[in-house]
Amino acid sequence: MSDAPHSARFTLDPDFTISPVDPRLFGSFVEHLGRCVYTGIHEPGHPTADAEGLRGDVLDLVRELGVTALRYPGGNFVSGYRWEDGVGPKEERPRRLDLAWRSTETNQFGLSEFIDFVRKVGGEPMMALNLGTRGVAEAIELQEYANHPGGTELSERRVAHGDKDPFGIRLWCLGNELDGPWQTGHKTADEYGRLAAETARAMRQIEPDLELVACGSSAQKMETFAAWEATVLSHCYDLVDHVSLHAYYYEQNGDRDSFLASAVDTESFIENVVATADHIGARLKSDKRINLSFDEWNVWYQDGSAPTLSGEGRGEDWAEAPRLLEDNYSVTDAVVFGSLLIALLRHADRVKVACLAQLVNVIAPIATEPGGAAWRQTTFHPFAQASRYGRGTVLDVRPASPRHTTERYGEVDLLHATAVRDEETGAVTIFAVNRDLTRVLPLDVTLHGLGLSEVVEHSVLADADPDARNTAADPDRVTPHEGAGTALADGLLTARLEPLSWNVIRLA
Ligand code: AHR
Repeated sequence: MSDAPHSARFTLDPDFTISPVDPRLFGSFVEHLGRCVYTGIHEPGHPTADAEGLRGDVLDLVRELGVTALRYPGGNFVSGYRWEDGVGPKEERPRRLDLAWRSTETNQFGLSEFIDFVRKVGGEPMMALNLGTRGVAEAIELQEYANHPGGTELSERRVAHGDKDPFGIRLWCLGNELDGPWQTGHKTADEYGRLAAETARAMRQIEPDLELVACGSSAQKMETFAAWEATVLSHCYDLVDHVSLHAYYYEQNGDRDSFLASAVDTESFIENVVATADHIGARLKSDKRINLSFDEWNVWYQDGSAPTLSGEGRGEDWAEAPRLLEDNYSVTDAVVFGSLLIALLRHADRVKVACLAQLVNVIAPIATEPGGAAWRQTTFHPFAQASRYGRGTVLDVRPASPRHTTERYGEVDLLHATAVRDEETGAVTIFAVNRDLTRVLPLDVTLHGLGLSEVVEHSVLADADPDARNTAADPDRVTPHEGAGTALADGLLTARLEPLSWNVIRLA
């Protein structure tokens, strides 16, 4: 701990900005994994199900959450997926082995059902292609089925299946995590880079203006990290728009201070991918800039140490919709999660798409019981608030903060913050995390030229029990509360950030 005073400060000025926020920063992810699809968003026999079998209670929560882009159908799942299995009459759809999750896929939910879901929640589809076991031919066949208006075998097949209007999918992922040895069809960077380039070229022959995402690394700690991005982009720089990043964090060995500083890794990961992409751009003498699609991020206890939604472990191999990865999130997890959102916003100049992985049941902000209730996990709240109030232009926030030492990341600021200005109303929302486990962090914010005079709300997610969680029995155990003593006078905002807290301070 340094000798500096125990308070933090920064200045906000509308002339110092990072970038407008792309709404797709608030995307999420639906994978055929565990109960994300089946008994998550889709459960025909559920009391709230609509005519298409979508759970009404989940649709309401997804709308409240405010998700924008929706990535589908995987994840690891997509690298063995045959999209044709999931279209057409349901009784004719095959049951298949899902190698990625050792489950049985019934294919009762597929492309048409997904598009229906996306339309009902008001999102934008982000379709992932199988470049693991499949290639260019199957990618353009799916594109033709999905997007071509009619008059060809594949587009007419879609019409015959009941979808007269094309799906209009603009955003496509060229595979998933092909740098990972666990991925079905894992490839070297050269193999993947060439396949991504060939697939992108063919897709653009049908629709030149698609947005395409090349696979980056599955984590910054991958041995191939950065070399992978450089090689892949040297094959497909001119053909793609984004490169992907994936990152998951969890508390290890009881080291909560390091866990709370996880966004240090997120921010350095983003900055290193930007540097690598720009290096390739410079080598190619290109004016084009590759943006980032952070299309999987979350807290995920990959060692299986988190409590699960039902208290049960994973089911039998090759089961249908088994309980997999059903982490039940604590207050601490939600604070880290909020900090990850702050990291994304702080880099909104290059991160144009981001997907919270995943949406329902599987490491998700929404939990359900088959035939029963749906409820909000602790992480639901920071996401919903960021999506609601994080629209506009990100202001350049450079905090002066007390620091402490963490085992994994060394010296780290106790304050992690960003601010977003709504250009239409002039309202500003500050998102801030206090990483200190035990002490209140006083915060002063000097407001220059923003014309702000009122604190509309100071919402806090914190709890006397940092391990508190929402459960089926107590679904609202953890909800945001109003912060105390937040004031704005003469261009100075003063606030007190509770220990281990996520804060949303709205100014008008
Ligand atoms: O989101 C869970 C899994 O994490 C995804 O299937 C995969 O892409 C990643 O490794």
